[in-house]
Amino acid sequence: MNKNNNYQNLQENYLFKEIGDRAAAYLASHPGQKILRMGVGDVTRPLPEAIVQAMQQAAGELGHADTFKGYCLEEGYEWLRQAVIDHDYKPRNIDLDIDEVFISEGAGSDLGNLSELFATDNQVAIMDPTYPAYTDANIMAGRPISYLPCHPQNGFVPELPKKKADLIYLCFPNNPTGTVLTKAQLKLWVDYARENHSIIIFDAAYEAYITQPDIPHTIYEIEGAKEVAIEVHSYSKSAGFTSVRCGYTIVPKATGLQAMWLRRQCTKYNGTSYVAQRAALATYTPEGRAGIRANLDFYLGTAQLIKQRLHEAGYEAYGGENAPYIWCRAPHGWDSWTFFDHLLQECQILCTPGAGFGPSGDGFVRISAFSKREDCITALERIKNKL
Ligand code: MLT
Repeated sequence: MNKNNNYQNLQENYLFKEIGDRAAAYLASHPGQKILRMGVGDVTRPLPEAIVQAMQQAAGELGHADTFKGYCLEEGYEWLRQAVIDHDYKPRNIDLDIDEVFISEGAGSDLGNLSELFATDNQVAIMDPTYPAYTDANIMAGRPISYLPCHPQNGFVPELPKKKADLIYLCFPNNPTGTVLTKAQLKLWVDYARENHSIIIFDAAYEAYITQPDIPHTIYEIEGAKEVAIEVHSYSKSAGFTSVRCGYTIVPKATGLQAMWLRRQCTKYNGTSYVAQRAALATYTPEGRAGIRANLDFYLGTAQLIKQRLHEAGYEAYGGENAPYIWCRAPHGWDSWTFFDHLLQECQILCTPGAGFGPSGDGFVRISAFSKREDCITALERIKNKL
């Protein structure tokens, strides 16, 4: 037996496991202390009542012989796939076939698994900083990776690859910087992919946080994108489903990859739970939508508060307008892990070190606005007074 030696090229721990371990180690050595958790992007507000009721009803159906369900289609129930088309794409004048919509257990696993569709000698370009799962998945597969640096000087907008890229990972609104692209900026990427026969994997997990007008909510708003882009969505950050687990991925037939993804899913995925899919359907009801909007506005309000207080305390901070994250430069020229450790040790604040999102993230930390409002206020007081 030979192990997959590519694993030796990974960091020892996945980013969010590492920060969780450091928090646990801090608590073990400081019993009784409370940590203000502004690290992993995990929701804290309860689900809207309409969604809870839909789940209760679905669970009840599984307890009766005449409404019991077994396996569903690997790609999801048609009623949910049709709702995705009707609510998320048709209003933007985007036509999709129902078999281009694949219901998933959330964006994270699809974003990792999609790389299986591509040969290992493909050159991968990944915006930097960004969600670390794309990089890890491609390191595991042994694909060559080049980074597309994003920093304050370029407004956190990546430049087109200098070296031809076959597979491109874009995430907008960006996790962690909160940057969004205009249609003109996104069109450059679609045009590049069409000219170079590349595929874009577009992570739209934070689409619901877009507040700025005229920002594309889906890459398919750009002409020709269906030939070159796969788009990944999650109900986790929009509807608060981090524990429920549901999302969807669009694989247009024009990419030439739809049949492969279906084949892959039928072999390796047994479908998303019925209860989770019913919950997802309820996100499209007027009551579900209103409850979700209230939660999104709350998180965005927290993000604004964090950013404003950081600015008042003299920090350089970005994001928070179209995303639930603030991207904050470390003081004193510290690297991100030094700032992370100071925040944990001196202020009992857990954030995410920017270097974990890619080399260009060093010197920054990400502060999550999913935290409780009162914890954020306390955290910002400590940052102002102690650092
Ligand atoms: C994050 O904190 O960046 C992510 O939300 C964690 C995840 O989705 O896996």
